[in-house]
Amino acid sequence: MADLFSSFKLKDISLKNRIAIPPMCQYMADDGLVNDWHKAHYATLARGGSGLVIVEATAVSPEGRITPHCLGLWNDEQAEQLREIAELIKSAGATPGIQIAHAGRKASANVPWEGDDHIPEHDSRAWQTIAPSAIEFGAELPRVPKEMSIDEIKRVQHDFVQAARRAYEAGFEWLELHFAHGYLAQSFTSSHSNLRTDEYGGSYGNRARFSRETLSAVREVWPEILPLTARFGVIEFDGNDEETLSESIQLVKEWRQLGLDMLSVSVGFTIPDTNIPWGPAFMAPIAQRVRNEAEIPVSSAWGFGTPKLADQAVRNEQLDLAMIGRAHLENPNWPYQAAKELGKDQPAWVLPAPYAHWLSRYKIPSDN
Ligand SMILES: Cc1cc2nc3c(=O)[nH]c(=O)nc-3n(C[C@H](O)[C@H](O)[C@H](O)COP(=O)(O)O)c2cc1C
Repeated sequence: MADLFSSFKLKDISLKNRIAIPPMCQYMADDGLVNDWHKAHYATLARGGSGLVIVEATAVSPEGRITPHCLGLWNDEQAEQLREIAELIKSAGATPGIQIAHAGRKASANVPWEGDDHIPEHDSRAWQTIAPSAIEFGAELPRVPKEMSIDEIKRVQHDFVQAARRAYEAGFEWLELHFAHGYLAQSFTSSHSNLRTDEYGGSYGNRARFSRETLSAVREVWPEILPLTARFGVIEFDGNDEETLSESIQLVKEWRQLGLDMLSVSVGFTIPDTNIPWGPAFMAPIAQRVRNEAEIPVSSAWGFGTPKLADQAVRNEQLDLAMIGRAHLENPNWPYQAAKELGKDQPAWVLPAPYAHWLSRYKIPSDN
């Protein structure tokens, strides 16, 4: 039986354990470029011992950034600097992954600690947002986006392909398409945000066209031997959950046929008014259902930061990988802590030698 510390193989990539760090925006970049913050942050996380580190939502185009301080992958200079991040993660013993993204109608926002709301239109830092239809998200994101023309749809799909190619050339070995969280691809899929009457709107099949085409096009440039994954909000918790979930599972099956290797099961966040049952590991049964019915390996985040819960989700075959986000911000050596708590004989072995050597040899004195 697999547990949290079992290895995991997907395509030609073997992760040393089932602990993954999900993408977490740092909002610390200018012009989409990596700087010292990102270097220290990702090296620290990777040294903590997880098998996979996925670099934060990295925009495929300038208007696809959530905030002016998101990372980007729309030019070669950005890719060249991201190469250093991929190398730092790899040399620390983890697999380097990256999430490529377009924020759609949720773009052009202030960073979370400055409001997390849309930058006012008259502010020179703001930009025109785009989406399948001219409907705003609402709440703190009231800006009405411009409805995308077919040419714009094709251009953004091309941007995803170019970003995927650059990610590969920069040394990333695991690609995640951000099809979740109310951003562009998720907002195409949802009838809350897509009122189009052309081939990209209307029926579920039409609404899912954007993601199907984008995935297929990316698969052509992303090597067959490397994992291509997506993060997708399979459920909104808007009262229409059974229908959304079964449509989502159908779509995941189609993506699998088109070359998707794994799904990161998440929440839609397409509309502000939802009833999300926040709680420890609340996505575990939903992830398990997607895993069983779509017959695809899955990961999930949201409240697996207690080692026992993460381990149980893997043992119970609810998750193939446990995504541990905020708990890693609190303690970058979370995998070491987890190994100790789960009673592993040699917990220090999850860390690189310069830490593991000392921690496995000597007991740290404590008061009790
Ligand atoms: C600071 C921060 C930034 C985040 N940025 C992203 C992101 O770039 N892409 C994404 O898909 N999710 C993002 N998320 C969501 C996380 O990937 C994860 O789903 C969430 O933190 C829940 O997992 P946890 O309970 O282990 O923290 C972010 C979360 C946090 C806390």
